[in-house]
Amino acid sequence: MGNTAMSRRRQIYEGKAKVLFEGPEPGTLVQYFKDDASAFNNSKKGTITGKGVLNNRISEYLMTMLAQLGIPTHFVRRLNMREQLVREVEIIPIDLVVRNVAAGSIAKRFGLVEGAPLPRSIVEYYYKNDELGGPLVSEEHITAFGWATTQDLDEMLQMALRINDFLSGLFLGIGIRLIDFRLEFGRLYNNDEMRLVVADEISPDNCRLWDLKTNEKMDKDRFREDLGRVEEAYQEVARRLGILPEGGPADLKGPKTMQ
Ligand code: TMP
Repeated sequence: MGNTAMSRRRQIYEGKAKVLFEGPEPGTLVQYFKDDASAFNNSKKGTITGKGVLNNRISEYLMTMLAQLGIPTHFVRRLNMREQLVREVEIIPIDLVVRNVAAGSIAKRFGLVEGAPLPRSIVEYYYKNDELGGPLVSEEHITAFGWATTQDLDEMLQMALRINDFLSGLFLGIGIRLIDFRLEFGRLYNNDEMRLVVADEISPDNCRLWDLKTNEKMDKDRFREDLGRVEEAYQEVARRLGILPEGGPADLKGPKTMQ
């Protein structure tokens, strides 16, 4: 990242995998996708070459599909290989995790075998707070501490379940099982009106995706568990979605400078 490019606009926030810049118009932000990866509350760090370019495309594709279903998102349009224009929202400090199959923390918490189907889809809430390691919280905690209202939660839950049905079907169609995924929501104000919209990204960074035939992992667990072929897994998801950037893998490093 060159200094000239960096100083051209104001950086609002830098996260583990993305940077947010002030957007071209009020109420907009530019979301820049990095190749950096982290896991286990930042204790494991690394780089997945081309991840930013792929996640930018994958999230663009999935968010656009959601909008077509009438599920509002913060996504406006993709700007270039690593950036997209999004609406500035007030982030609700709750991560929603939707689970269809036991894996990750739920498997550990309840002693379930990884890959065991759950009796039904389960939605969990986690408080977005890195110092606390993002603790699992209940609706009681969320409403009592004022992180979201009962109505907000109800709306987020309904949207999350619709998104789960839609994404499960979409991935099934390309030979992938949606094991679980994480959603973030934000408040978007329009005059006196407030609506909740899907924010952040939807990509192999925050979904568990397993090959339908082989059960091979095609998501960030390959990085978390040092399974190797991480770049290839992200590429394969994009390829199956039909959105691998033109020029193929050679294009994935993308421009070094930010426009
Ligand atoms: P978990 O099994 O570790 O709780 O993760 C559930 C899903 O949520 C999985 O698809 C990974 C995703 N996730 C995030 O995107 N960010 C996080 O900070 C965590 C803990 C999980």
